[in-house]
Amino acid sequence: MQHLLSVNDMSEDFMIEIWKDSLKNKDNPSNILKGKILTNLFYEPSTRTSSSFYSAMVRKGGSVIPINNVKFSSVTKGESLEDTIIAMSNLSDCIVLRHPEIGAATRASKVSSVPIINGGDGEGEHPTQTLLDGFTIFSNNNLSLDNLTITFIGDLKNGRTVKSLVKLLSRYKNNKFNFVSPENLRIPEEIRPKSCFETNNIDEVLERTDILYVTRVQVERGSSHDYALNIDQLNRLGKKSIVMHPLPRVNEIPKEFDQDSRAKYFDQMKYGLWCRMSLLEKILS
Ligand code: CP
Repeated sequence: MQHLLSVNDMSEDFMIEIWKDSLKNKDNPSNILKGKILTNLFYEPSTRTSSSFYSAMVRKGGSVIPINNVKFSSVTKGESLEDTIIAMSNLSDCIVLRHPEIGAATRASKVSSVPIINGGDGEGEHPTQTLLDGFTIFSNNNLSLDNLTITFIGDLKNGRTVKSLVKLLSRYKNNKFNFVSPENLRIPEEIRPKSCFETNNIDEVLERTDILYVTRVQVERGSSHDYALNIDQLNRLGKKSIVMHPLPRVNEIPKEFDQDSRAKYFDQMKYGLWCRMSLLEKILS
């Protein structure tokens, strides 16, 4: 059984296989997962992760049990995460879990008889977001993740997509990291690469950024710093730079930038479907 709890569970070879398969097959439907059932078990809100796993499973011929609002499940009656996982692993072949607590997916994996995919555990990790973020970079950088300057901006303390992506990009050669946030939302020390640049002023790093990874401030985790990039700032990025965002966006990127060829955040969403189709096929077939 192959759980996917952290970026650390994915080797470079595993990801390259998924990315190459995603480039080749995109969202081509097939019946390879006919008869298989996926449980989407979401204790926190989601649009992209939940729906793209749903769509990916159906496009591969499988079915989905959608528990997108645990308020209407037996969790409300006091059922523990462990008992819910035991129940759903008896009814399905794989479980995607999103939960507000760090380590919830690991807890689930200890009692599950089917693979657990971490769909986001609190401020912890979001490995399938990293799979699609990595694919976005891979497909925009001549099939490589080396020699890049990446600037992360926003809530770097609570953003799980940032933590997972930093882990991934730290494995590759000659990457440089800039972290832009106010003091109270700095990237945690255990994640921060030894060599990096930290500032609270994006203007210091824009012109030497290949990938600008923008994140929302996580109000639901107690953060309260409002910020918005403006079009003049974004236009100072190089012609070959790209702007990524895991979404949802609030005010961080102006809508007028959406048509710019450097804006990749809606492509990321589409790539999420392709990567999750390849991932489910790998785990379940
Ligand atoms: N990027 C992401 O995880 O989006 P959702 O919260 O909509 O799933």
